[in-house]
Amino acid sequence: MSQTGKPTKRRVHIRTYGCQMNVYDSDRMADVLAPLGYAPTDDVALADMVILNTCHIREKAAEKVFSELGRLRELKQEKAGRGEMLTLAVAGCVAQAEGAEITARAPWVDIVLGPQSYHRLPELVARVARAGALPPNPQSGHPTGNRLLDTDFPVESKFDHLPEASQGQGIAAFLTIQEGCDKFCSFCVVPYTRGSEYSRPVAAVLAEAQRLVAHGAREISVLGQNVNAYHGEGDNGPVGLGALLRELAKIPGLDRLRYTTSHPRDVNDELVAAHRDLPQLMPLLHLPVQSGSDRVLAAMNRGHSADEFRRVVDRLRQAQPGLELTSDFIVGHPGETAADHEASLALIRAVGFAGAYSFKYSARPGTPAAGAPNQVAEALMDARLAELQALLRDQQQAFNRSRIGMTMDVLFTGSGRHPGQVAGRTPWLQPIHLLGPAGLIGTIAPVRVVGVQPNSLNGALAAADGQTRNMPANQEPAPA
Ligand code: SAH
Ligand code: SF4
Ligand code: F3S
Repeated sequence: MSQTGKPTKRRVHIRTYGCQMNVYDSDRMADVLAPLGYAPTDDVALADMVILNTCHIREKAAEKVFSELGRLRELKQEKAGRGEMLTLAVAGCVAQAEGAEITARAPWVDIVLGPQSYHRLPELVARVARAGALPPNPQSGHPTGNRLLDTDFPVESKFDHLPEASQGQGIAAFLTIQEGCDKFCSFCVVPYTRGSEYSRPVAAVLAEAQRLVAHGAREISVLGQNVNAYHGEGDNGPVGLGALLRELAKIPGLDRLRYTTSHPRDVNDELVAAHRDLPQLMPLLHLPVQSGSDRVLAAMNRGHSADEFRRVVDRLRQAQPGLELTSDFIVGHPGETAADHEASLALIRAVGFAGAYSFKYSARPGTPAAGAPNQVAEALMDARLAELQALLRDQQQAFNRSRIGMTMDVLFTGSGRHPGQVAGRTPWLQPIHLLGPAGLIGTIAPVRVVGVQPNSLNGALAAADGQTRNMPANQEPAPA
């Protein structure tokens, strides 16, 4: 505390890796630290505290954390030389999975906290402050940390204890409605790092959505590791994602809704009906399938066949013409043969994706697949990944080109790269740039697509060239 009794001004630098749920959590950690006097900074050199919000999904993601911690040790040392303190915290899924290893390998870390413990961050920070800067290790001269470890899965959800989300999220906002996963896919760490499935109550979700809209959000993506397994408590018992989306769609000023990430097994009639009935529900769905081979899908414990996936896609496309899909693929899951790989390519050709993420299988400690005997050779995985990605890239480019000449509603989210430009996103989440007044930011306006860049579209304001059409955002636009 300063002499005036107000919290001393301090700065926190939060670096976020991994999925959108981590992005949301990083904002919530900033919220929880604000009453302690911490303001966020993008500049690590100005920070009094650094939080790494980490991802454990693949080996590379996890290893990044340790190299980053090496750099931060030097920063901590430098600061100590000037008599300043740097509090170092590791949060997120690596913290959960490898907490003990972090305190052993990087003893200069002060706090290690898992994704379910963020509401206890102030208490941990207070303990570090009380302990102060510890003297350097006498042997190595390296800085020492407090090594506080909090990776419990509490009985109560962190959501019952976190303060209300701040207003700072802007025009397109994230809202976590569900956490954890009970699916236990053979390859995946998420059930271990995030714990079992938990859904926030409907009233809490609606209240947060209303606050986000009151602070300028026009689009909300509701998030969960398995968001369509959502079953939050409503007035008359548990409510599914389809019904929740209907409630969200009633909020005035909330023009666009998305949800991610969904599982093919949890696409029910109610959710399909939401795609049919809600103009706010955007026509792009991320639906990870991982493989097109029934054998591999079974080995992965995905709980559905390639055909069942195709039928889910058909039902969704019937409900919402113009719906486009993106997905995730893994090549080289243990036991994957050349024929299995061909089956993935065949599924991609049959479905046609607007985009996809694809990864080489990465063996994760503690998962069933990591111990399987028939691991696929690295070189084979490289070749399969290249082939899969070439096909997916072609499909994505074809999709982007197919939008040329169409007029569609664009949500403007900021200024563009060049002077006089504004940037926004199409209903299909494609970034789009065009010349237009800054006053467009925060609004939705019809735009004609005039060109494609590798990762974005070029547009022209439809009103400006006499092509204005008031088209609901979720309908397949007619070619201009
Ligand atoms: N809940 C989502 C995905 C969560 S992880 C789902 O059910 O699909 C995001 C993506 O990372 C996964 O879809 C998968 O494609 C990839 N992934 C997860 N574990 C992996 C591993 N061990 N190796 C390679 N990719 C992995
Ligand atoms: Fe991981 Fe499977 Fe759960 Fe997705 S459904 S988070 S891939 S275990
Ligand atoms: Fe990574 Fe954890 Fe998200 S492992 S993908 S940060 S749930």
